Amino acid sequence: MKRFNLLGLFVAGVFCILLIAGVGVAEEKTGEMLFKEHCVACHRDGGNILNPKKTLNKKDREANNIMTASDIINKMRNPGPAPTHPQEWSGMKMFDKYKISDDEAQRIADYILTTFN
Ligand code: HEC
Repeated sequence: MKRFNLLGLFVAGVFCILLIAGVGVAEEKTGEMLFKEHCVACHRDGGNILNPKKTLNKKDREANNIMTASDIINKMRNPGPAPTHPQEWSGMKMFDKYKISDDEAQRIADYILTTFN
């Protein structure tokens, strides 16, 4: 009986720790949450509604020389002009450090690299 109570206490303790850890994680947005917040409007399912040749899938990314997380972060910071676009604008919004911190940008990039293969 005593043993059972100890086990109960242990389980309750572990549960509390998980709960606290869970709340801690919830405060920090994951790459997926950030992607949904900032990118999904144009990159639904990793596609690209404005430029179908520049999706987030590995094949397209690598064809466009976007290989690493820092390449993806560069693209966010400086999406760059497209010579073919009438307004000399690539169509992708620019995300500076104030909109998306370096830390968040890294999480988004990791999410893209692991999700869209
Ligand atoms: C307003 C629409 C729009 C939003 C929002 C947007 N993008 Fe883009 N994205 C584009 C367009 C258009 C391109 C193609 C740009 C070009 O011509 O180089 C692109 C290209 C890219 C590429 C290069 C893909 C390739 O195959 O060359 C990456 C990486 C990327 N976006 C990441 C992001 C991330 C990360 C976010 C969110 C933080 C985001 N984009 C938000 C429209 C958008």
